[in-house]
Amino acid sequence: MKVLVIGGGGREHALVWKIAQSPLVEKVYCAPGNPGIAELAECVGVAADDIDGLLALAQREGVDLTVVGPEVPLTLGVVDRFQEAGLEIFGPNAKAAQLEGSKSFSKDLMARYNIPTAAYGTFTDHAEAVAYIQDQGAPIVVKANGLAAGKGVVVAMTEEQAIQAVDEIMVDSVFGAAGSSVVIEEFMEGEEASFFAFTDGRNILPLASSQDHKRIFDNDEGPNTGGMGAYSPAPVVTEALTEEIVETVVRPTIAGMAQDGCPYVGILYVGLMIKDGKPRVVEYNARFGDPEAQPLLARMKSDVVPVLQACARGELTQTSLEWHDKAAVCVVMASGGYPASVDKGHEIRGLAEAAAIDDLIVFHAGTAEKDGMIVNSGGRVLGVTGLGDTVASAIDKAYAGVEKICWEGVQFRKDIGRKALNR
Ligand code: AMP
Ligand code: GLY
Repeated sequence: MKVLVIGGGGREHALVWKIAQSPLVEKVYCAPGNPGIAELAECVGVAADDIDGLLALAQREGVDLTVVGPEVPLTLGVVDRFQEAGLEIFGPNAKAAQLEGSKSFSKDLMARYNIPTAAYGTFTDHAEAVAYIQDQGAPIVVKANGLAAGKGVVVAMTEEQAIQAVDEIMVDSVFGAAGSSVVIEEFMEGEEASFFAFTDGRNILPLASSQDHKRIFDNDEGPNTGGMGAYSPAPVVTEALTEEIVETVVRPTIAGMAQDGCPYVGILYVGLMIKDGKPRVVEYNARFGDPEAQPLLARMKSDVVPVLQACARGELTQTSLEWHDKAAVCVVMASGGYPASVDKGHEIRGLAEAAAIDDLIVFHAGTAEKDGMIVNSGGRVLGVTGLGDTVASAIDKAYAGVEKICWEGVQFRKDIGRKALNR
């Protein structure tokens, strides 16, 4: 069969890498892809948000299954359009993708179905938002309601910071229409973890545990990013906790969406805060995590393609996935300046030397080809993913790869996975 993957980041490189290994698959296309993906798939220059272009591509090439990587095409209704045209596609439709696209939608769903999360209020009126902050006190969290590329959240340690964030979102409109309303919520303490489950709208198939590193600097300092590294399995998510997450969060979310008339199909990403062994939801995403997809897919032993197909068809009967015994650690190498303005266009050296290391995969995210060289072209540039018998040895493996690679301005965290070792 022919499979099309939409997107061009590290997550999509990992998806293409895994899908291409399936005995069911004869050809993989990726739109738009990147130079790393181009080694495994035919990259086609159609942007991930060009829904007409994507549909035309799938029809022209006779694609049997399309897999959506990023959230933007989901919220733009790529799934609806493909289904109307009779094409098979993995991901939630536009209505269900509001779980990620609208914070108030997801908070209201959690309230309705008693899914544990932070207390909150939604405001379209500036004065009411400020009054709520003054009433609740700090620390408190201010979020633009719509999609803001992971940057619309301010964890405010003082009331002044929180009010300033409301001003920026509602008055200065730094996130445009995404900030016409704000969600203000209780600050949750604890350790964050990411939990993923495949679903066909009714049945669920949980993945192994994983943990992201959202802050730019070591020891979780500095501003939030898209994610600076991830690993799997994550010991903070014990077997008992997995059970609790599935029963108190994942099942009621999927059942609630179905009950509300917008069944959710695809992969559900639950961002969790864990405190005293209890999970609470920080956010939902309507897609695979990036970088979490890299270590998770690197460890996945089962063929992913039948799972993607079963979800898209509403026929998910498989109840478990097989995993390699090894742990996987992905260290993100980012451009200078990230997560603010990014210093691009520098030659990346050492890719071949890193790729020659056993049990190491270099996933491309923000790379481009220029004059026969690979250069950095985005914020997050590479996801260097190592496998090892333990998290400790996977960390060593990933950093052995990182050491081989350099470009001007490169930055990466030196403590990815250390939280697992501290347990
Ligand atoms: P979000 O985009 O909602 O995932 O938020 C980005 C990051 O902000 C999360 O990964 C957390 O680190 C932090 N965050 C969001 N909401 C809360 C909360 N209610 N309490 C504490 N931290 C939060
Ligand atoms: N790793 C965070 C995200 O994918 O949103």
